[in-house]
Amino acid sequence: MVMAAGLGTRMKSARAKVLFPAAGRPLVYYPVRAALGAGAQHAVIVCSPQGKSDVAQALAHHINAEHFSCTVQDPPRGTGDAVTVALRGMEAIAGRFVLIVSGDTPLIAAEDLTPLFDALTQSPTAKLAFLSFIADDPKGYGRVLRGANSEVTCIREHRDLKDAGEHSVREVNAGFYLAEREFLTAALQRLKPDNAQGEYYLTDIVRAAAQAGGALAVVRPEQNLMGINDRVQLAQAERLLFSRTADRHRRAGVSIQGEVWIDEGVTIEPDANIAAGVSLRGQTRIGARATIDVGCVVTDSILDEESAILPYCVISSSRVGARAHVGPFAHLRPDSEIGEEAKVGNFVETKKVQLGRGAKANHLTYLGDAEVGAGSNIGAGTICCNYDGFNKSKTVIGSNVFIGSDSQLVAPVTVGDNAYVATATTVTQDVPAEALAIGRVRQTNKPGYATILRAKLKAAKEAAKR
Ligand code: UD1
Ligand code: CA
Repeated sequence: MVMAAGLGTRMKSARAKVLFPAAGRPLVYYPVRAALGAGAQHAVIVCSPQGKSDVAQALAHHINAEHFSCTVQDPPRGTGDAVTVALRGMEAIAGRFVLIVSGDTPLIAAEDLTPLFDALTQSPTAKLAFLSFIADDPKGYGRVLRGANSEVTCIREHRDLKDAGEHSVREVNAGFYLAEREFLTAALQRLKPDNAQGEYYLTDIVRAAAQAGGALAVVRPEQNLMGINDRVQLAQAERLLFSRTADRHRRAGVSIQGEVWIDEGVTIEPDANIAAGVSLRGQTRIGARATIDVGCVVTDSILDEESAILPYCVISSSRVGARAHVGPFAHLRPDSEIGEEAKVGNFVETKKVQLGRGAKANHLTYLGDAEVGAGSNIGAGTICCNYDGFNKSKTVIGSNVFIGSDSQLVAPVTVGDNAYVATATTVTQDVPAEALAIGRVRQTNKPGYATILRAKLKAAKEAAKR
């Protein structure tokens, strides 16, 4: 069960808290993945009425729909009520134990949850095990209170603490529980909202378990269990997620310098090099020995092996072929396919383009809705005029074509293989293969006229002053 129906008041947002993204995935994704990874058969996610369809949709991008279902808690009457609702959603699912996780805890991993199974199955009498941690600052958390033999007696919520002694307890409840299903079903029926918040507290089942045979606290590191209640905690958790992800890639053979932001779900082959300030987002895949230099932002793209992305490029929904070079300062917009060994240089923008093997567009160019054949060279300042204010049209350039600098290709237009377009030509008609296209005003030189012109201009300026 995943408790994810809370209002998230402290986020001060119209959006459900569990849908806030951290490292490219909604918060709720992480505990669901951890629970399934720890052996849960199926996750029932308790959502608010407004959150349900968005939660289902967001999770379906990342988790097989067979493994989870969403149910609605309305109104949110506390964590105990959330679990009561979830139990109803579980009638068709068999199993002796129920694992309960909070939806706002993105740092949790399967390895944190499996000790709950070990603890509960090894104890002959205990009814429940839960995760606790020693908080740096226990404020806001439920405190784990223990008896004379240090056995857990109950959890008391921060707002219900009785004295300074209880306030000083630093062992707190993390919000993860494994319970015997029969015990849980009975204990939930006995919950009462007799507390400072007037809510049904799930935490009250810990006292019930302690009385019925035992409640076991399994202590885990705080940095794995931290819950997100506001945007400061969200930022802290996201920093931790990013630094863990970077270290995971480093251990798998990727060189990463300095701080980078790599989303969950990005894959990187060994011996790739990622420089500081790089952001790899969404479903990006990086091939072996590729290098991505400082400050690049790559979203939902594939960079094949040994491709080199120079500093400060933005690449979205595109593919860069093996050994191709891009940048610095290039912008590959969606559906750009840069061929093997091709080169895209500085201040080049591409969109919906196929650049053939070894083709080059090295400087200051816009290529949109275009095909460029293998080995062609696109000169500096070339523009594909692909849009007339209403429709997009296509430019087709064959292989081994030379497009001279400062040319405009007015689409739809085709330039055949091996053709040559002279510098500064505005291409408005198709150019046949092997042809030279030249379309510019012929130059005339007027000897000595520069001196005359300067004198004229100077005189005119002085006349204006007087
Ligand atoms: C809860 C625990 C507290 C623990 C802390 C750990 C209770 C009563 N308290 O407090 O002991 O130290 O977590 O982070 O359980 N939710 C619902 N429906 C509701 C209320 C909450 O689904 O009616 C969900 C929330 O969306 C959230 C989770 O339950 O994901 C925890 O709720 P929250 O209000 O954040 O509880 P805390 O005050 O943090
Ligand atoms: Ca919380």
